[in-house]
Amino acid sequence: MSAKLANLIDADKLTEAQAAAELKRLAKVIAEHDRRYYQEDKPSISDAEYDALRQRNDAIEARFPALIRKDSPSRRVGAAPVGRFRKVRHAVPMLSLDNAFGESDVLDFEARIRRFLRLGEDETIDFSAEPKIDGLSMSLRYERGELVTAATRGDGMEGEDVTANIRTLHDVPHKLKGRHVPVACEVRGEVYMTKQAFLALNERQKAAGEPVFANPRNSAAGSLRQKDPAITATRPLGFFAYAWGEMSDMPTDTQSGMIRWFETCGFRTNPLTKLCHSLEQLIAFHRKIEEERAELDYDIDGVVYKVNRLDWQERLGFVSRSPRWAVAHKFPAERAMTVLRDIEIQVGRTGALTPVGKLEPVGVGGVIVQNVTLHNEDYIRGLGGNGEALREGRDIRIGDTVIIQRAGDVIPQVVDVVIDKRPKSARPYRFPKKCPCPLHTDVVREETATGEEGARARCSGEFACPFQKVEHLKLFASRRAFDIEGLGEKQIAFFFEEGWVKEPADIFTLPARNRTIKLEGQEGYGETSVRNLFAAIEERRRIPLDRFIYALGIRHVGDTTALALARGYGSWKAFHDACLAVAKGDPEAIAEMDALDQIGNTVIAAVAAYFSESHNRGIVERLTKEVTILDAEKPKKDTAIAGKTVVFTGTLEQMTRDEAKAMAERLGAKVSGSVSKKTDLVVAGPGAGSKLADARKYGIEVLTEDEWFRLVGR
Ligand code: IVH
Repeated sequence: MSAKLANLIDADKLTEAQAAAELKRLAKVIAEHDRRYYQEDKPSISDAEYDALRQRNDAIEARFPALIRKDSPSRRVGAAPVGRFRKVRHAVPMLSLDNAFGESDVLDFEARIRRFLRLGEDETIDFSAEPKIDGLSMSLRYERGELVTAATRGDGMEGEDVTANIRTLHDVPHKLKGRHVPVACEVRGEVYMTKQAFLALNERQKAAGEPVFANPRNSAAGSLRQKDPAITATRPLGFFAYAWGEMSDMPTDTQSGMIRWFETCGFRTNPLTKLCHSLEQLIAFHRKIEEERAELDYDIDGVVYKVNRLDWQERLGFVSRSPRWAVAHKFPAERAMTVLRDIEIQVGRTGALTPVGKLEPVGVGGVIVQNVTLHNEDYIRGLGGNGEALREGRDIRIGDTVIIQRAGDVIPQVVDVVIDKRPKSARPYRFPKKCPCPLHTDVVREETATGEEGARARCSGEFACPFQKVEHLKLFASRRAFDIEGLGEKQIAFFFEEGWVKEPADIFTLPARNRTIKLEGQEGYGETSVRNLFAAIEERRRIPLDRFIYALGIRHVGDTTALALARGYGSWKAFHDACLAVAKGDPEAIAEMDALDQIGNTVIAAVAAYFSESHNRGIVERLTKEVTILDAEKPKKDTAIAGKTVVFTGTLEQMTRDEAKAMAERLGAKVSGSVSKKTDLVVAGPGAGSKLADARKYGIEVLTEDEWFRLVGR
């Protein structure tokens, strides 16, 4: 049965064979839409269309439970999304701002306000001037001072409920401070990721063989869209308050007063915000902030001017979807023109080949740029590919004059090719068929999650490829893994080239072998530095389990996943035995790993692939002889619910399901989706049905949400 045909038949009329074909197609299509939505922040279908696909999948699975696939969208857990977020209607719409691109636009903006309010030339208009943060706007609803909902902007009318994730941000108070708290108030502002945190996150993504984010804005969006708040909690996100939605009571009558009030409530507001009294001061503010822009640790793309008096704001009102009382004065995009001298291929730890453009050095926004990522073969051929900054249909050739841009001010990208300047001799770039590593292995195109040929190319040399080996060693000694002081990327590359360190275990035997190596005689080394290095190596012979797992360099196992695995298994022996069993396809071991929080099919498949390789098993065996692996911290034992199995059912009113699950697990409980004799506790909200009935049948203790909070002491 062709997948195309099955696609046209109603879910309740499919035969078993048709259903199998259709489930396969849906798994593939939904995974692709998830990738666009979660990783690229660029959905290509409406939410309604997406929901229809998932409903169809659910309906077919309900009819044919035996056909539920391992990669079914309904089974994906952890970092991979299990669905989209609940929709929230904004009590007051979240609108956008008109843009001003030059000083004359700002003059027009001020003149229009004067005309509208019938103000004379000598009447002062005060403006609150604020940096325009390049993040995601967020609306935080507080009722009686308690945070009840956090919603993204969405289409302005309806956003997504990301409350559980927002609660993990330090900058967002769960309870408003101060004595005069309105009954209901919505604080609005921007969620952002600092440039430093973005770079560190991309390093971690790279190390785990995961796709990197194009800019801090996308990484903030991706971090907020995690279905598991524990993952969001590991991503450092900030929040600046600068606006509001519904307010049952106004604490002040100016914009600057509101900013001060946000501070008294416990929010951070942007320290560069300034009250300006004239047009000249606005323009001077724009200039000053533009100068400081490169030094700021977060991205901004302009400044915002807002009429300070709220009664004037009210009179000015809105035109279509933007207020008349505010404007965004944008900065010109930071772009520069230069020549692409060459394209080099870099091989990563997992064998991924990344083309890097070598540029005639050029200054962009105060930084000299010499290298530019070209992402992958499709990108160079003008077919898209991740990043997608390049003007559609343009291919990139060596010798081309290119326009580069520092996207989100961090990673430089090629955004256009100046075709008029293309030298006659320039030929389309031929992506190498052989890897540049000494093995010259065949390059293969990676399969995507949907089983299609992906844009990324890989070296097929795997464990024999010296480029991959050295990258693995770098990861092994890096900060989040063994963190060996004095053994940075340069030293690893040097030791590897000399043949002194070929695999992780060699690092620990290095001191004993130094009698023949005589490191202190090498350039850059003296007796003290060698002594320090060997002491640092000794110090790391005892290593926590999560760091050890991360250091193995299993694909898709970044530090967060490694921690989840370590907590799940507790000891190296338990983890190792499980991995070997998973590699042999033992269904019980697979199910056990699958049941762990944050672990899904991708990780299980990567663990199986890793431990199926005898070469890897050898590396691990030799390494474990050199080190002592410390057991993971066990889940808390001294709480009222430690070790218990809890089921949440009905509509939870004070917390989302994710939040409830995260809270229970933090306190050492296991959360289950169904009630059985093994269940210890059921927390039931309004509308609870069969699960509540089951709980009563088995005589299981049932709590309301309030009783739950009392039990866990919150
Ligand atoms: S005020 C009615 N202030 O810019 C409009 N917006 O294009 C209320 N933004 O969606 C928004 N910094 O995400 C305002 N200091 C600031 C801002 C800011 C960034 C973003 C916000 C909004 C977009 C408008």
